[in-house]
Amino acid sequence: EALKVQAVVAEVAATTATHVTSAAVGLSLGFFFSWAIALVTLGLVPVFAVAQIVAMKMAGSNMGKATEAASWETKLGTLVSETVAAHRTVAAYGLHSTVGDAIHEAAHEDGVMKKGHAQGVANGMGVFLNLAVTATINYIGAVMIDEGIVDFKDFIRSYIVVIFLGIGIAAASADATDQVEAKRGGQKLFGVIDRKSAIDARKPGGTALAEAEGVVEFKEVGFHYPNRPDTMVLSSVSFTVHKNQKVALMGSSGSGKSTCIALLERFYDPTTGSIHFDGHDLRSINLRQLRSKLSLVGQEPVLFLGTVAENIQYGALAEGGDGPPSRKQLADLHNQMVDAAVMAHAHDFIKNLPNGYDTEVGEKG
Ligand SMILES: Nc1ncnc2c1ncn2[C@@H]1O[C@H](COP(=O)(O)OP(=O)(O)O)[C@@H](O)[C@H]1O
Ligand SMILES: [Mg+2]
Repeated sequence: EALKVQAVVAEVAATTATHVTSAAVGLSLGFFFSWAIALVTLGLVPVFAVAQIVAMKMAGSNMGKATEAASWETKLGTLVSETVAAHRTVAAYGLHSTVGDAIHEAAHEDGVMKKGHAQGVANGMGVFLNLAVTATINYIGAVMIDEGIVDFKDFIRSYIVVIFLGIGIAAASADATDQVEAKRGGQKLFGVIDRKSAIDARKPGGTALAEAEGVVEFKEVGFHYPNRPDTMVLSSVSFTVHKNQKVALMGSSGSGKSTCIALLERFYDPTTGSIHFDGHDLRSINLRQLRSKLSLVGQEPVLFLGTVAENIQYGALAEGGDGPPSRKQLADLHNQMVDAAVMAHAHDFIKNLPNGYDTEVGEKG
């Protein structure tokens, strides 16, 4: 959706003006040179325009389908991109033909091949329509020249100019449909952006935690994800983690370990039961405070676009107030950052990077 909106905002708005103008100029010039040919072509313009639109939409949707297939939206796309991304794993386990078969199957299953054929035929029809219209105009023109209604020079002039009219109209109306789609996409996007989070981290109020002890208590916690109400992920989970205690949750994949952590971070609230931190129900604690007391090393590390230093400092920056930090605060921040890196055994390797802490890491690292 974002791409559609971007396309219209960035490009279509400007080109629409061009197309409309060329259509208007084409029309007036066409009538100027030969009103008879212009009338005939004008009659054929709808057909011509339809042919153009069909051809353009075909080209467009071919591209769309191609990206769709390559994207994570289809099974095929997912398989292909996962396989390529995990090519070392595939190689290490000798999975080439297994994965190849799966991809082959997905390609047929999703009807991707069929879609391709159908589009090829539709494409050809579009081109045919185009040529048929051109041939008709030429034929009528030839008859008119024969009958002495127009002369050859005026026919060519009028004809070429009206062709531009057709292209202009087609392009403008294609833009119009793009705009409609972009509008719809925009609505969806803003629907997501404007959605009120059930658990709002910026909400003030709630119990403030001064010094955290770190006592975590799950009481009869039951939970299902909002989008899968019929699958209970946790039921009646109870345990207590005392101060300074190290606890490992063990269980098979999908048994709900990550879910417990997500609940502790309050990414979700339990469906039944409750979770307590230092004796307070999580739901009563100021959320920003709660999360600032928790350190989470995720399964997949995430780096943001920026320098190593910025990436380490994000956590501390989030806690700070508004306005630019003072020189003292910046110095503190730097020391904190180095301390954190030393603790994480990352300091030495960061020092050896080309620009140390100021090395740019790419998007997602
Ligand atoms: N965002 C989610 N939406 C719906 N179901 C989920 C989501 N995340 C995990 N699940 C489901 O919840 C169950 C527990 O997952 P998870 O806590 O990630 O397990 P573990 O970390 O123990 O491997 C699994 O069945 C998984 O499919
Ligand atoms: Mg997990």
